[in-house]
Amino acid sequence: MTTTTPTTTPPIAEAADGSESATPAARIEHVSKSFAGPAGQQLVLDDISLDVAPGEFVTLLGASGCGKSTLLNLVAGLDKPTTGAITTDGRPALMFQEHALFPWLTAGKNIELALRLRGVPKSERRDKAEELLELVRLKGAHGKRVHELSGGMRQRVAMARALAQESRLLLMDEPFAALDAITRDVLHDELTRIWRETRLSVLFVTHNVREAVRLAERVVLLSSRPGRVARQWTVGIPQPRRIEDTAVAELSVEITEELRGEIRRHGQH
Ligand SMILES: Nc1ncnc2c1ncn2[C@@H]1O[C@H](COP(=O)(O)OP(=O)(O)O)[C@@H](O)[C@H]1O
Ligand SMILES: [Mg+2]
Repeated sequence: MTTTTPTTTPPIAEAADGSESATPAARIEHVSKSFAGPAGQQLVLDDISLDVAPGEFVTLLGASGCGKSTLLNLVAGLDKPTTGAITTDGRPALMFQEHALFPWLTAGKNIELALRLRGVPKSERRDKAEELLELVRLKGAHGKRVHELSGGMRQRVAMARALAQESRLLLMDEPFAALDAITRDVLHDELTRIWRETRLSVLFVTHNVREAVRLAERVVLLSSRPGRVARQWTVGIPQPRRIEDTAVAELSVEITEELRGEIRRHGQH
């Protein structure tokens, strides 16, 4: 049900007619990143090459501090690689653990702001925001203030706002990590449904193995200190998946073993 792909040859995107697609949603080529630290330059990411195909859902998995957010920020264009190159198909949308909604705006107005920044005319924004709220199953929440919403509802609004950008690529950095397990599970279902409906490309960062396996078509495991692509798994388990599915559990055990090995090799706790 699952197959392992070699670490150094990410699959090339194929169009429906079988020809190679010219534009991956994201292409990371030999990217390294160092930061200046007290003990000189610290190499955080080392020679990472990775493609995200159009419509593909990839999770980037690794121990805390291995450089996942650093890599995602590079793909987002918030920072520049020390060496190597990153290209994306248009400007990506971002979603973080913190919802980063404007508290003085309502849920709907937060979404309308994203629409305005994209140049959507004023007359269309209200309807479009309502549509997006419906997509994340928050119909009727347009006038709600951020403080009136639960953590899960806030992340739904954040998702709607990210979708408002109509980017081809959605970058998510542990967006559900602060939620309780049940809410997270519901939002996994929602994200899978929305991804299948929109055929967006998603690059999703997590340190949670089960979450990675539940969501992704491909799991990319990063090593620590420095972050390198340690191994990749193509996940063939049919969607929608459940967190308690035997196949999800089995692959999670295999990946966890590998992750433990990585952590042991690099002396982290
Ligand atoms: N702006 C920065 N300046 C210096 N060091 C940084 C900076 N950003 C990240 N780091 C370091 O890079 C490493 C990876 O961090 P990060 O990408 O946040 O890891 P992760 O998201 O996998 O937990 C950490 O050791 C962190 O201290
Ligand atoms: Mg991080």
